[in-house]
Amino acid sequence: MSAGLTVRGLNLARSGKAVLHGIDLALAPGRITALLGANGAGKSSLVLAIAGVLPATSGAIDLDGRSIAGLRPEAIRASGLAAVPEGHQVLNELSVEDNLKVAGSHLSRSALRSAVDVALGTFPELRERLQARSGNLSGGQQQMVALAQAIIVKPRYLLADELSFGLAPVVVARLVPVLQDLAAQGVGVLLIEQFTHIALKIAHAVYVMERGRICFSGEPLELIENPAILHSAYLA
Ligand SMILES: Nc1ncnc2c1ncn2[C@@H]1O[C@H](COP(=O)(O)OP(=O)(O)OP(=O)(O)O)[C@@H](O)[C@H]1O
Ligand SMILES: [Mg+2]
Repeated sequence: MSAGLTVRGLNLARSGKAVLHGIDLALAPGRITALLGANGAGKSSLVLAIAGVLPATSGAIDLDGRSIAGLRPEAIRASGLAAVPEGHQVLNELSVEDNLKVAGSHLSRSALRSAVDVALGTFPELRERLQARSGNLSGGQQQMVALAQAIIVKPRYLLADELSFGLAPVVVARLVPVLQDLAAQGVGVLLIEQFTHIALKIAHAVYVMERGRICFSGEPLELIENPAILHSAYLA
């Protein structure tokens, strides 16, 4: 069995328009892989295709050696892949506590309690808001709930789409180490990040997308040393 999340030759259309063209991408366990690219390049579409939310036109998606292409989102989640989609996607009507419990609904009562404790240890500010309706939280607190859910679910792979969007730098600085901790525990993380300098600083590998295609894959250092690669992708 080959460990890793592997995407090969993935094509996707949205509303009849081809938006992903022959995407090849690999995530390794315990590593942060950054995915960069301009608005509309196809980053979120790729996340949604991997998570099974948008059905790919063709291509292979393997999770630790097992095909997940064509599976329903719940089945993909159950096989160890969690996606935090773009926008603050916690269940707004639920309290913070219930959002955390929903994430751990597969756990025994005692395992759930200790998982929630670990998550609240990471985000003590959520402990004070446990009974608050999630929709009433700040954007940063909602992202903390989303990451707390990931800590509780303990996925093998986590796709994080623009966690920092609209957040103050101090809040972003709180979230980044949590992703690094998850990776240190063996989670393979895909990080889509508007602040490219943050992504390049913490990622072990990086892909750049341009108009639905991967136009660069390699080490962050290569992009830091050749900023022209990123500039042309963001201007395309
Ligand atoms: N709901 C939708 N229905 C149809 N087409 C869409 C939809 N959302 C996005 N697209 C199209 O898919 C392509 C890729 O968009 P996508 O949102 O995946 O890019 P992105 O890289 O995530 O951009 P951003 O940085 O703005 O989040 C674009 O051409 C976009 O117009
Ligand atoms: Mg997006």
